[in-house]
Amino acid sequence: MSSTPSSVEPGAVEQVPGDRNAAAMGHKPAVAGQEPVLSVRHLRVEFPTRHATLVALDDVSFDIAPGEVLGVVGESGAGKSMTGNAVIQLLEPPGHIASGEIHLMGRRIDNLAEEDFVPLRGRHIGMIFQDPLTSLTPLFSIGDQLVETLRAHLPMNERQARERALALLREVGIPAPETRLDSYPHQFSGGMRQRVVIALALAAEPELIIADEPTTALDVSVQAQILALLKRVCAERGAAVMLVTHDMGVIAETADRVAVMYAGRLIEIGPVGEVIRRPQHPYTEGLMASIPGLAERRERLYQIEGAMPRLAAIPEGCAFNPRCPHATERCRTERPELLPAGGSQAACWLHDPENPVARREVPRDIPRDTREVAR
Ligand SMILES: Nc1ncnc2c1ncn2[C@@H]1O[C@H](COP(=O)(O)OP(=O)(O)O)[C@@H](O)[C@H]1O
Ligand code: SF4
Ligand SMILES: [Mg+2]
Repeated sequence: MSSTPSSVEPGAVEQVPGDRNAAAMGHKPAVAGQEPVLSVRHLRVEFPTRHATLVALDDVSFDIAPGEVLGVVGESGAGKSMTGNAVIQLLEPPGHIASGEIHLMGRRIDNLAEEDFVPLRGRHIGMIFQDPLTSLTPLFSIGDQLVETLRAHLPMNERQARERALALLREVGIPAPETRLDSYPHQFSGGMRQRVVIALALAAEPELIIADEPTTALDVSVQAQILALLKRVCAERGAAVMLVTHDMGVIAETADRVAVMYAGRLIEIGPVGEVIRRPQHPYTEGLMASIPGLAERRERLYQIEGAMPRLAAIPEGCAFNPRCPHATERCRTERPELLPAGGSQAACWLHDPENPVARREVPRDIPRDTREVAR
C-alpha cells in the first residue's frame, strides 16, 4: 500500500469497543426499531468537467443511530470528506449530488434549497474540522463566539447564553473557564482550540456531529483526550457522530462501527471489532496489515501494492481489481454490491453466496524476524 498511515499501537485491538454493537451492521438501523439520525441512500456525487463527468461518490449507503459513532476510513482521496460535505451541502461547485437521498431524523435534506439548509447547520448538524481555526474567528473572544452561536439557535438572553457557554467550556475540559471566556483563539493551544470547537459544535445540541479528521493536527496524547471527550459527550447526549479519518488507530479507539471507503465507494461496513479483527474485503485486509503490531499476529495479511485510482480512471467492475491478489475476469467487469460477509458486509465477489470467487494464496508480509535481520 502506498499511503496508509496509522497510529494503532500493539495491543490496541484488544481494547476495541465495537462488539457491543455486534447486531449493528450494514445499512440497517444500528438499533432495531430506533430511527437512524442520519440515513444516506445510494448517494452519487458528480463533478462535470470539460472532458468527462467524474463520479466522486458512487452508490454510498449507510445509517448512523442516536449515540453511535460511525468511523469513515480509507486512503487519502477515497471520498471520506466528500461524503461529509455532501451531507452538509458544502460540496465545492461544480460538484453536486446527482442521485440518491439523505435523510436527517426521517426528513429528506439533500433536496433542500440553501436558505432552508442554513438553519440545519449548527442547530441540527454540528461540524468539527481538522483545523480549529476554520471554525473560529480570530477577531472575537471565544466567549462572544459561543454566546453568538447559542443565541442564533436557541431562545436565550445574553446572561443565559454566557452561563451556558461557561458550562459548555467546563464540559469540554477547559480549566477555569470563567477566566478564559474573554480570551481569543490565538491565546489557546491547538488542543484547547479544538475543545472550544467541540463546545461550539455541541452548543445547540445538534443530533448529528460530522467530525472530519478532528485530531489529525494534534499531538498523539492530546488526540486521545479529544477523541475520548467527543465520544463521551456524544454518548451522553445521544448524538450520532460521523467520524472521518485516515487513521485506523482513531477508529479503533472511538468508533462503534466502521465504514471503509475506496475510490468513492463504500466497500466494507460493520462493527469496529469485527472489521479490525476479521476484515472481509481484501482492501480492508491490506489496510489492517499496515497497522504496526497487528500484521504479525494475523494470517492472510499482506501489503497492497499500487495506489488508489484517480477519479478519471476508476476501473470497470470492482474498483480495487488492479490491486487485488484474488481478482478474476468477473471482478474486472461486474461491480459487486455490499454482501453479507462474516460479521460485516463487504462489496467483494469473494462473498457471493451463489458463486464466490476463490481466494488465492497470498504471500504474507515479510515475517517479523526477517524484517529485524534486514534492518
Ligand atoms: N473540488 C473538487 N473537484 C474535483 N475533484 C475533487 C474536488 N474535491 C475533491 N475531489 C476529488 O474527490 C475525491 C475524494 O476526495 P475527498 O473526499 O476529499 O477524499 P478524502 O477521502 O481524502 O477525504 C478525490 O479523488 C479528490 O481528488
Ligand atoms: S471483487 Fe474481486 S477484485 Fe474486488 S476485492 Fe473482491 S476479489 Fe478482489
Ligand atoms: Mg478528507
